[in-house]
Amino acid sequence: MKARDYAIAIVTGDTLAAKLVPPPPPEALELEDDQPELRLAAPGRPAALAIVSGRDARVPPLAGMRDPAQRARILHALANHELQAIELFAWALLAYPAAAAPYRRGLVAILADEQRHFALYAARLAALSTTFGDHPVTGHFWNKLDHLRTPLEFACAMGLTFEHANLDFAGDYAAAARACGDIATAEALEQVHADEIRHVHFGWVWMRRLAGEAVDPWDAYNANVRPPLGPHRARGARLDRDARRRAGIDESFIDRLDAITAKRPSGEPR
Ligand SMILES: [Fe+2]
Ligand SMILES: [Fe+2]
Repeated sequence: MKARDYAIAIVTGDTLAAKLVPPPPPEALELEDDQPELRLAAPGRPAALAIVSGRDARVPPLAGMRDPAQRARILHALANHELQAIELFAWALLAYPAAAAPYRRGLVAILADEQRHFALYAARLAALSTTFGDHPVTGHFWNKLDHLRTPLEFACAMGLTFEHANLDFAGDYAAAARACGDIATAEALEQVHADEIRHVHFGWVWMRRLAGEAVDPWDAYNANVRPPLGPHRARGARLDRDARRRAGIDESFIDRLDAITAKRPSGEPR
């Protein structure tokens, strides 16, 4: 199967099941793509998962974990992040047909992880009598296509901003779930956190390679993200330094990120 055909089916599929079809094994997937760049402007979606504005899809704060109804809304929002990640890693396969084979192979592997993450959250939603689609969903990642012009910008926006911040968020949510006795939810979040370390590593390695190993990583990152993204969006209020070390991020980059105030998408400090 051609990676291109697989990716088109994932992005344009208009059922949830279509988004969750795992990629074929590496030996059955033809990564090479000599077609022009294809930048799909929006995903196919079933009606219940139509993208709405953030104003219409509020997510409870971390403290909401204690209340099962609010916990379900938090998990619903996290599942929506996974759905968008699935779509955007497929989008990237189409947008960067000429990227290096190992880069494209990495996109496929991460896409499969995001599908597993979605399934983990969907199982926890089911345990809380919620189905994905019961609440409105935003297009947080889809709204940033203009930040993803090149494989380098994609590595900086997805790997080193959104997934980077999730090193903090997933850890905080896991601790909150454990504190209120929902061990299964905590374990799902801990699995996501562990995988996210590898995803951030992918972003880091490719940012270094594509920007040039001679370029200071902090400068490379800042040169390839634009407002509203940037270092203040690459972290939570609490910085998980250990997870970043394990992702291969260098100490000087972590120190500089530590000195930045985390901001919400609204621009408010966290
Ligand atoms: Fe994920
Ligand atoms: Fe990820």
